[in-house]
Amino acid sequence: MENLENNVNVMPRIGDKAPAFEAVTTQGKISFPSDFKGKWVILFSHPADFTPVCTSEFMTFGKMAAEYEALNCQLIGLSIDGLYSHIAWLRTIKEKIEYKGMKDIEIKFPLIEDVSMKVAKAYGMVQPGESETQAVRAVFFIDPKGTIRTIIYYPLSLGRNFDEIKRILIGLQTADNFKVALPADWRPGDDVIVPTAGSCGTAKDRMEDKSGELTCYDWFFCTKKLSKEEVEKKLGK
Ligand code: BEZ
Repeated sequence: MENLENNVNVMPRIGDKAPAFEAVTTQGKISFPSDFKGKWVILFSHPADFTPVCTSEFMTFGKMAAEYEALNCQLIGLSIDGLYSHIAWLRTIKEKIEYKGMKDIEIKFPLIEDVSMKVAKAYGMVQPGESETQAVRAVFFIDPKGTIRTIIYYPLSLGRNFDEIKRILIGLQTADNFKVALPADWRPGDDVIVPTAGSCGTAKDRMEDKSGELTCYDWFFCTKKLSKEEVEKKLGK
């Protein structure tokens, strides 16, 4: 509890259980992770309501919300602002802002009010060298078992790449479902990497693969085809 409430030095790590919390949000109270059982969660923070970079990010996430839903993923935002600020900002976005062809964007996912910084500190979102009063742009990918699977931190001045955020989610789900690893810049439809140990026989078997399914660049680096359709079917897109 000490850690959860006071320590800005706590940095959750990949493979850790995501810290549990209760919070007030624009969609009512939430208990995390119990309210989101069986779902992937992207928990992300932004520095402040009524700021331009954050507005561009929320509009982008809002526009993509259905794509995350189709991937069984709940978006949850957070900043060190109060509930009424959140409500007023999201209303302004919906009613007034037109940006890059996006307009009338309604944010339906919960946005946590965290004036006490309790949640932000538990997730290492307050990084005093960057700001003592605002959260950095953190993105936590949490799997349906409540385990942190990927973490990205961006500074205050740089908006996130939302294609990459979606690519990471799809990549994690693909790696889990097909028991494969994914090479640099992988996207659905690209070849995937088969595990080195165990399931595909010895290194010699793999190099001399008779099935014609594997392409081996060396004994430790073999790929196989995995079509975009197979990935989309499995991930429920
Ligand atoms: C922004 O979202 O525009 C922003 C927020 C905090 C610091 C710098 C930029």
